[in-house]
Amino acid sequence: MKPLILITTLTLLSAAVSYDFPHLQTLRSSASSSTQGKAAADLIERLIGDRSSDFVVEIDKGIGPQDMFELSSLENGKVKIVASGGVAAAMGFYHYFKYFCNGQRTWAGKQAELPSILPTLKTPIKISSLDMFRYYQNVCTLSYTSAFWDWDRWEQEIDWMALHGINLPLAFVGQEAIFQRMYLSMGFSQEDLEEHFGGPAFLAWARMGNIRGWGGPLPQMWITQKLLLQHKILKRMRDLGMMPVLPAFAGHVPAAITRVFPKANVTRLGNWGHFNSTYSGTYLLDFEDPLFQTFGKKFIEMQTAEYGTNHIYNADTFNEMRPASSDPAYIAQAGKYVFTAMTAGDPQAIWLMQGWMFLSPFWQPPQVKALVTAVPKGRMIILDLASEIEPVYQKFDSYYGQPFIWCMLHNFGGTMELYGAIDSINQGPSKGRNFPDSTMVGIGMTPEGIHQNEVIYEFMAENAWRAKPRDLNQWFASFAQQRYGHKNDDVNQAWKLLMSSVYNSSDGHRDHDLAMITKRPSVKYDVSSDLWYNPEDLFKAWDGFINASGALQASSLFHYDIADVSRNSLQVIAMNFFTDMIKAYRAKDIATVKKNGASMSELLTDLNHLLCSNERYLLGLWIADARAWAVDSSEKTLMEYNARNQITLWGPDGEIHDYASKQWCGVVAE
Ligand SMILES: *[C@@H]1O[C@H](CO)[C@@H](O)[C@H](O)[C@H]1NC(C)=O
Ligand SMILES: *[C@@H]1O[C@H](CO)[C@@H](O)[C@H](O)[C@H]1NC(C)=O
Ligand SMILES: *[C@@H]1O[C@H](CO)[C@@H](O)[C@H](O)[C@H]1NC(C)=O
Ligand SMILES: *[C@@H]1O[C@H](CO)[C@@H](O)[C@H](O)[C@H]1NC(C)=O
Repeated sequence: MKPLILITTLTLLSAAVSYDFPHLQTLRSSASSSTQGKAAADLIERLIGDRSSDFVVEIDKGIGPQDMFELSSLENGKVKIVASGGVAAAMGFYHYFKYFCNGQRTWAGKQAELPSILPTLKTPIKISSLDMFRYYQNVCTLSYTSAFWDWDRWEQEIDWMALHGINLPLAFVGQEAIFQRMYLSMGFSQEDLEEHFGGPAFLAWARMGNIRGWGGPLPQMWITQKLLLQHKILKRMRDLGMMPVLPAFAGHVPAAITRVFPKANVTRLGNWGHFNSTYSGTYLLDFEDPLFQTFGKKFIEMQTAEYGTNHIYNADTFNEMRPASSDPAYIAQAGKYVFTAMTAGDPQAIWLMQGWMFLSPFWQPPQVKALVTAVPKGRMIILDLASEIEPVYQKFDSYYGQPFIWCMLHNFGGTMELYGAIDSINQGPSKGRNFPDSTMVGIGMTPEGIHQNEVIYEFMAENAWRAKPRDLNQWFASFAQQRYGHKNDDVNQAWKLLMSSVYNSSDGHRDHDLAMITKRPSVKYDVSSDLWYNPEDLFKAWDGFINASGALQASSLFHYDIADVSRNSLQVIAMNFFTDMIKAYRAKDIATVKKNGASMSELLTDLNHLLCSNERYLLGLWIADARAWAVDSSEKTLMEYNARNQITLWGPDGEIHDYASKQWCGVVAE
């Protein structure tokens, strides 16, 4: 097979931004070169088996400071990868795999059939990432997607991270064990904690202080098993040279605080979402209370003793929670105390904060400035969390000198609509880097849930080293070729149509309300106006996939994609039936209501058949993974209830219903 060299202008790229953050410069994995090299080589072997012996990995920690790799062909036909660390080596491998071997590795699977002789690189290719960090995950991903993952699934995900260049991953598994240890040591009881921790599928929101106890009590075996899992996760991340981000104490405490420490100055926060006070209205410890420092210090010390540390901690004290006062002096004070509580436990601590709340009108420039400048320069990293739809770093003057990461949020609740803001993702990161006095130090991917729209994540990850916007036609054609292993005009046509329609949301419209067929029926929905594209483009793309189905039938990623495009097309058709039905309902035209209702029911049956044909769309796997965490039948019931509740009612009485709805076999019909 003739190698197809799609990129001809790769040269050594120099960093666009010069940094003035000495603390960040020194952050490097302590794993030795040989450990990182072996971790990268093992990863390559997991991906391509025996053919991994065709690659030689060499780590040179002296090159940098940004991650970089150099690829070259050896006389014996092997390809040599020299890289600054394990992640850079994996990135370098993936670059060659995609652009010279037509390979791809995404959540749905891989195209890993290599040419029998590796394509020769006539001249070496050197690529340097443009920023220091590539961040990955949202605190919600841990519940919406990975709540029930075992080590095998985590291992695959860490491989995915390394291939896509992630060096700053959120590592939030297993924190309840540390919190439990800390609270028990301070006089809280097991029962106090049962009311405090969330259930297995709802930990993300209990950790943020939005809810408490809902979905619990959290089984002890869960807590212990997650601790063991976290050890494996951290070891692998560190072996690859990543810098895992661990949690810190953010101020949320069990309700029993008023019994254990009667003098503690706590505020009971308002109820969150539509939750009532049984499961919401959590307690926040006042920043100035000396106990805040005690908890903050103890938590980090106990966590470090158990898991070690890379000195970067996430704490989202104000996530979706309005501070007690908008006075900048108060906010600055709060920021200072949160940070001091961290440094009390780890003098080198760096506070990584999700900037999600900065989208709320409460946070105006004086409030944001007060918070972010309360911490020494370079000791806080802000995730500009949804930069592709609503970047706020400009509004806040590049965070007044604090470093930030340009993040693509892209997905809410792990819903499945085909969606993307391709132009913004193509141009946004370089805009961020070139902003006057930019403090951008990285790019990030912060979806609430994954397993959807893989193309967007493949595209986004390359922003690590792409200094300029890409030619989208060319990029999508190479994407399709990598995905299925060869070139196919029909499928190219289809992807081109998707690129300029569903993947080109440019007016702020997003995916969320469109999955109405998996939502509670309501005559109030007016979803048709939410479409940001012409559905005919989607249907034509669907047709293109069908045209290609003979030629690409051997590709499992093609099976996944054709099911996905069919699924989304059926969803749009269902929406049309629904809109007509509501119109008829308003006109009191019973016959038309019935006709459209019947069409919808039939369509749901068809959709279910379609979804049952592919293992990536099965409800059963989500439930089986949940039940696998149980040790007895009552825990099995609890796990399954959590799994089912999250994707449907989301709360005891449908408090956040349908937010994480799924179009899975077993959900859209029995
Ligand atoms: C308790 O905290 C609030 C702010 O949350 C503060 O106004 C008040 O003065 C504090 N009370 C004491 C006794 O420190
Ligand atoms: C909150 O909702 C739960 C579940 O429906 C119910 O059992 C409980 O009584 C409610 N609590 C309050 C204070 O209304
Ligand atoms: C996306 O839409 C915008 C606005 O309609 C248009 O200018 C742009 O060319 C489109 N991009 C693609 C890739 O189709
Ligand atoms: C699929 O094939 C049909 C029949 O040849 C053709 O009319 C149609 O344009 C093709 N669709 C796409 C998207 O290429």
